[in-house]
Amino acid sequence: MTELVLTEKNNQVLTVRINRLDRKNALTHAMYTALGDALEDAHADADIRCVLFTGSDDCFTAGNDLSDFAQGLPGSFEETPVGRFLFLLATATKPVVAAVNGPAVGIGTTMLLHCDMVFAGNNTRFQMPFANLGLCPEGGSSLLLPSWIGRVRAAELLMLGGAFTADDAHRLGIINQVCKPEATEATALESCHKLAAQAPAAIRATKELLNRPTLEQLKETMLAEGQLFGERLKSREAAEAFKAFMEKRKPDFSKFD
Ligand code: COA
Repeated sequence: MTELVLTEKNNQVLTVRINRLDRKNALTHAMYTALGDALEDAHADADIRCVLFTGSDDCFTAGNDLSDFAQGLPGSFEETPVGRFLFLLATATKPVVAAVNGPAVGIGTTMLLHCDMVFAGNNTRFQMPFANLGLCPEGGSSLLLPSWIGRVRAAELLMLGGAFTADDAHRLGIINQVCKPEATEATALESCHKLAAQAPAAIRATKELLNRPTLEQLKETMLAEGQLFGERLKSREAAEAFKAFMEKRKPDFSKFD
């Protein structure tokens, strides 16, 4: 496993830490592969009963590495490292918890929609700037967000792509608790240990029932999103947005129709 994703097993909890702070924990193909591998390992190891995703006290992740994005997605979505990771996360049978602080951008927000419990520091800045990058929603967000927070609020977050705070996320019902950044991980870990001490088959059954009503539609949506996302990555709008990011300026979409 690459050192950009660190794993640590402690009392039946597998902590998976994103560790690329010089790039604000932006996720590369290799890092998605490592995240997917960690989920598979957790699934195969009977001694692991809960998975915790986290970063540092001041950064969860700035989302997909924008240089990787500029190169497009290799192959069909479910076979890409990000697609494999998202499908493993969405179909995980053991509980998954997240402890986030600082930037939680793009997939850094959408992956949380698949976690069973989410704890966020009061310094967290959630954002789904897909449209701002000439892209479209991913990770099942186009299905899960409107049904959880309402159509107009989902449209605002996905179309305007603005940042929102941990208090906003708590009000929207997409995180469990707002913490002091230095306490987020410990607070989340406490719940992980409680989950690990519960009857494991009962927890699996509960998770299965919570996911069941939307699971098939979610898989279908993630494939449709992946298809469109792959097409958008090749668009001139996205090329302009990536170039603008590298040049540290706002993208100019005025010439597109
Ligand atoms: N991909 C690649 N590199 C990234 C990155 C990303 N998603 N996010 C940040 N970085 C790099 C920056 O280019 C910068 O590199 P540099 O030091 O060579 O200039 C470095 O990480 C530090 O980022 P910086 O922007 O200076 O930090 P910040 O604290 O001012 O802002 C963010 C943090 C997350 C708000 C900002 O980096 C950002 O908006 N990143 C892009 C997020 C994004 O659009 N992700 C894709 C979502 S679909």
